[in-house]
Amino acid sequence: MKITVVGAGAVGASCAEYIAIKDFASEVVLLDIKEGYAEGKAMDLMQTASLNSFDTKITGVTNDYSKTAGSHIAVITSGIPRKPGMTREELIGINAGIVKTVSASLVKESPNVILIVVSNPMDTMTYLVHKTTGLPKSRIIGMGGALDSARFKYRLAEAMEAPISDIDGMVIGGHSDVGMVPLTSHATRNSVRVSEFLSEDRLNQVAADTKVGGATLTKLLGTSAWYAPGAAVSGLVQAIACDQKKMFPCSTYLEGEYGLNDICIGVPVILGKDGIERIVDVPLSDAEKAKMQESAAGVSKTNALLEL
Ligand code: LAC
Repeated sequence: MKITVVGAGAVGASCAEYIAIKDFASEVVLLDIKEGYAEGKAMDLMQTASLNSFDTKITGVTNDYSKTAGSHIAVITSGIPRKPGMTREELIGINAGIVKTVSASLVKESPNVILIVVSNPMDTMTYLVHKTTGLPKSRIIGMGGALDSARFKYRLAEAMEAPISDIDGMVIGGHSDVGMVPLTSHATRNSVRVSEFLSEDRLNQVAADTKVGGATLTKLLGTSAWYAPGAAVSGLVQAIACDQKKMFPCSTYLEGEYGLNDICIGVPVILGKDGIERIVDVPLSDAEKAKMQESAAGVSKTNALLEL
């Protein structure tokens, strides 16, 4: 199983590291446009192999897509990350051109590839890949909901002073500060609704903190986060590579599901060897439905800025 990660920046390298540590892939190709950078990161990571007990071979290449040929899965992290105070949507001007070129180059070398889009604004970049590559929608997956859900679980565990392994919860909608829809009414602690443990005010605070999860880190770090984004991507890659049929919220092209059309936005999907094998329709409350519509309107507004 060969996996390509485009972009050897913090998110790409962290993603390659987690994939390698989980030791399910034979090869990870790390590609970057900066001369020698991916080669350096790959060598550094390979020197952790004996320490971390993995056999995955990580290779670094400078912009040579021929080395990615035959990839089963490719992750696109290329583009610029946001700086403190910026929204993800502000990155569209630069990142759209990069993502279009990168996805076309990947598909040329690996026509059967499954693409995971991480670059921001993620839902719009996923839509761009859908509109420009000609790949079936099951093979285009936007990574946002898995990360946002991990941040949601972190905030819920913190509020309840509970271990994270007790918590289950999901965030759907757009991967943006305003567009995320944390499903607080569905979240549980060992099957008990979290509303049994937390007041409505505290739950609203958890949802608000979750939505600005990325922005909070960007402010602290001076650039956007990488450990949780990398781990979230590796989870999606593993679900596909190992045909796990796991459910994650991912950005996918909708044709009527959730009452939405011609948009890529986060909804729960089942991931297996063919990519997105099914979109799961979760019954939403009227308030959640309204939030989802509002979120979709925001994503569509950003999509309208694309020159397709
Ligand atoms: C974040 C970036 C990856 O939320 O969008 O950290």
